[in-house]
Amino acid sequence: MRRKVIAGNWKMNMLPNETIEFIEKFEPLVKDTKNEIILCVPYTDLFYALLSAQNTNIKIGAQNMHFEEKGAYTGEVSGKMLKTIGVEYVIIGHSERRQYFNETDETVNKKLKAAFEYKLKPIVCVGETLEEHENNKTVEIITQQTKLALEGLTDEQVKNTIIAYEPIWAIGTGKTATSKDANNSIKEIRKEIEKIYGNEVANSVIIQYGGSVKSSNAKELFTTSDIDGGLVGGASLNPEEFAKIVNYDL
Ligand code: 13P
Repeated sequence: MRRKVIAGNWKMNMLPNETIEFIEKFEPLVKDTKNEIILCVPYTDLFYALLSAQNTNIKIGAQNMHFEEKGAYTGEVSGKMLKTIGVEYVIIGHSERRQYFNETDETVNKKLKAAFEYKLKPIVCVGETLEEHENNKTVEIITQQTKLALEGLTDEQVKNTIIAYEPIWAIGTGKTATSKDANNSIKEIRKEIEKIYGNEVANSVIIQYGGSVKSSNAKELFTTSDIDGGLVGGASLNPEEFAKIVNYDL
């Protein structure tokens, strides 16, 4: 049985004092869960989040990283920098980065390799646009993105990659993919991994769903055969609401 992993992606929200207050409120509400919890916070909140989450079951992640270790890349943060302060996870290839910041399948792949080099655990995002969805291109797009993201990784690395399937049309729109459709898309991603890396690897990879996950739909989504948790945007900004999502099975 694969574990459930529920990650919050705060995007460009929350100040340090809000981060500390959030974790103070959130931690007691989720202390009994067996699900894995990750909070992916802005760079400026990482240090505060790491301190506040010490000795709790909350793990901390960043939302992006550069693939080089260091150098003349003004404004960028490397995997080594993240690892050095104690960050455990990193989101790579979020659709907002692909859309607004020139992230490509190639840079996603480079970042994934760099994440493993610095012993960070990557959460790689894939997902189709509304237009692709309406033209029945979903499977083609998400299997291709998955294949290119994972290219050149070892079986062990693929097993330790979390994939987040986030249909772009469902992000921040209040529109959620039906649990059946989301589960089917995720099955297709798993099939693609199976084709390249075999059954054992495909069955161990955690694949999350993301896109308007809320406490009211979490249980339905997370109890399907192939959805192993969620990557939650807006609803992860409220400690009570996010705790309900994490505790969907309690
Ligand atoms: P929302 O949950 O706000 O739709 O965002 C999803 C997302 O992009 C998480 O990475």
